[in-house]
Amino acid sequence: MTSDVRPDEDGAVTPPGRRRPPGDRVALRGDLRSALPDAGAAVVVTVLVFALLWARMESGASDTVAVMPFMDDAGTYWMYLLSQAFGWSGLLWAWGTVTLGLLLSGPRPARLPVSRQVLERWHRTTSLTTMALMFAHALMFAAELVRYETKVDWAERLWVAFADSFVPGWYDSGTGRIAIPLGQGALYLAIPLGLLFYVRHRIGANTWRRLHRLVIVVYVLSVWHTLLYGTNVWYGEWPRTVLWLLQLPVALLLLLRLLRPARRAERLGSVGGGTARPGWWLRVAGRVAVAAVVVGLVVVVVSGRDGGRDRPTHPPATAPHAQETD
Ligand code: HEM
Repeated sequence: MTSDVRPDEDGAVTPPGRRRPPGDRVALRGDLRSALPDAGAAVVVTVLVFALLWARMESGASDTVAVMPFMDDAGTYWMYLLSQAFGWSGLLWAWGTVTLGLLLSGPRPARLPVSRQVLERWHRTTSLTTMALMFAHALMFAAELVRYETKVDWAERLWVAFADSFVPGWYDSGTGRIAIPLGQGALYLAIPLGLLFYVRHRIGANTWRRLHRLVIVVYVLSVWHTLLYGTNVWYGEWPRTVLWLLQLPVALLLLLRLLRPARRAERLGSVGGGTARPGWWLRVAGRVAVAAVVVGLVVVVVSGRDGGRDRPTHPPATAPHAQETD
């Protein structure tokens, strides 16, 4: 999830045979070092969310417990709560890094509070942190499954927890049959699409740029996974509406980025002007689809019809996750 535009790639054509100076290659190790303060902030946010989820469970206000009553014990299910907390910090960081990326690749704002180079560095470091948070979220879910599956031997406990969490199609219970592969898709796409930046001098800047654009799919899958599976946004109440609302700036920035891209070569231009007709229509369709998403988001937020379930008056007999057979 790194920047789409580098200063020397911004529409300028590198003459054939001219190599970019090696100093221009941003080393992964350097970015990992720069990501430390950012990762520290992410840990603090995760701990705060964890404390909130714990307190809600203790006070009886937890939506997770409303969906899965057997979980009413924060001390036992702390790894599940930590997984949820990493999920939320991961989604927040994904939101931030996608926003930064769209700011860099869309129309240039007249004034920026910091330089472009600083924005680019933030985009790279937040994207590295996002990948780590997504992974920690899935890992803590796996750890909870290991703790939970006491009836089988250790090898099977480890295998089942790993397969349920990381093997697409393995998890076979309730909403998770769809929601878990969506999350896995986001995780497995985020890692190569984010890290390809560090080998772009090998694969070519154009190939990297084309592949990097797909990173928006990672974000869409993450939000979809959360809306489908997050028990804290399960019911059609304000937390779910806020989650939808937060997608509005991202969709608007994406629309602006498509309508007025920073790179001149990506502008739509007139039909037939440089782009083959089918390609031109495809690009128009993409812009129309994103505009429709913006309208759809406004409708969802204003109407409050956000796909949330009604809160039952009695605890449900089944739960959406693995433990539902409990
Ligand atoms: C291997 C991939 C993944 C697995 C196995 C996984 C697993 C889960 C599970 C089991 C839940 C339900 C927790 C609950 O009861 O609320 C969940 C919720 C969630 N996941 Fe994932 N997930 C994965 C990927 C992702 C990714 C890439 C993101 C994006 C950052 C993400 C963000 C979230 C969020 C924000 C929630 C809501 C938690 C809550 O309601 O408190 N997940 N995930």
